[in-house]
Amino acid sequence: MNSDIKNPYGKYNGKEMDYVLRALDTENSENKNYPWVQRFEEAFAEKVGAKYAIAVNSGTSALHAALYAAGVRPGDEVIQSAMTVVMDAYATLHLGAIPVFADIIPQTQHIDPQDILRKITKRTKAIITVSWQGLPVDLDPILSIAHEYGLMVIDDSAQTMMGRYKGKIAGASADVGIYSFENKKHLTTGSEGGMIVTSDPDLATLARKFAGIGYKHMTATAGRTHLAQATVQDPSYERFDTIGLNYRMNAVSAAIGLAQLERVDYIVARRQSCAIFFSNAIKDCCWMIPQTISPETEHTFYTFAVDYQGEEKRGVKWKEFYNRYREMGGDGFYACVVPPYLEPSLREKELGGYTMSYGLCPKAEDLQRRIMQFKTNYRNLGEAKQKAEILSQLIDKIGR
Ligand SMILES: Cc1ncc(COP(=O)(O)O)c(C=O)c1O
Repeated sequence: MNSDIKNPYGKYNGKEMDYVLRALDTENSENKNYPWVQRFEEAFAEKVGAKYAIAVNSGTSALHAALYAAGVRPGDEVIQSAMTVVMDAYATLHLGAIPVFADIIPQTQHIDPQDILRKITKRTKAIITVSWQGLPVDLDPILSIAHEYGLMVIDDSAQTMMGRYKGKIAGASADVGIYSFENKKHLTTGSEGGMIVTSDPDLATLARKFAGIGYKHMTATAGRTHLAQATVQDPSYERFDTIGLNYRMNAVSAAIGLAQLERVDYIVARRQSCAIFFSNAIKDCCWMIPQTISPETEHTFYTFAVDYQGEEKRGVKWKEFYNRYREMGGDGFYACVVPPYLEPSLREKELGGYTMSYGLCPKAEDLQRRIMQFKTNYRNLGEAKQKAEILSQLIDKIGR
């Protein structure tokens, strides 16, 4: 058996292997009677408090299907955060719609409702909020704008797992929520995977059909419908009523995902513990500013993301700090991705009358250059503590 599975700090040392073997056992009647994908969907929906969950093969395909279900069609505009990965914009563009970027609130690194209001036009169809770096977005002000203008809200919770906002789980509080189970995320299905959640049966049916090649018999709850053989085995049998894609999750991924879900509270709590070490390390440092967490919100710390102001306040450049931390034995940490519209794939393009160029969202552009995202996915908390101590020592050397 693989050493990663035996290792006490291994990533898959729950029931993952057992479930995978069971999922691959073709003689096992449980596979026919209760498919693994359906089990994972039902358990996930229950865990996050949504009525429906649709398992797909990535967070990107989840976004694509969610936007389709939300009614986004060619020429529509989708307002979305300037501080996110490109996938929100790509999913929008692949529906023939236009991503319209709204600026952020620097303290939380989340989309700013005031800027959403400024960006609404007659063509706006939906808003994508992003529960960034594990911090659930403050959804109520955005939902009230959306209801006033008749817009759908999709919460991209790819980086937030089990994060609470006013008692509800992030992702499940919007009209539609999406998650990613890619390898670095809190919960993973082994390598790639995603989930769409909603409590609206029509949205769930549309999302499932879009992600499942548009089989006419698909419903909000069922991926595969067992029809009488005589019905299907007929030359005049018609299968499809929707133009979809094959974004379905496979059974092995679902088996891993289900095992991970069974211990997701522990997996999330471990990241939160790592974040506490880093939070203590930057205590009283006036040039390392973490995301502001409101009392109504529980942060799940995909990373520990800080606004690094050490260049302005202590004359130490971002990269110099990075090198010094690594020289002292700290781990490499990530910078924030550049706003999607500044990536070479989109930069300077004219999209629906908008030019994708510098200056669209100045606060996001300014903050992005300073952000440091420290790792929180240590499975050995002793190691996390040691790295946080190194960070604290470096901050002391520079001067809090
Ligand atoms: C905020 C956000 N949205 C969407 C995605 C896309 O997810 P996936 O990589 O599973 O396609 C990611 C993945 O990194 C993400 O961080």
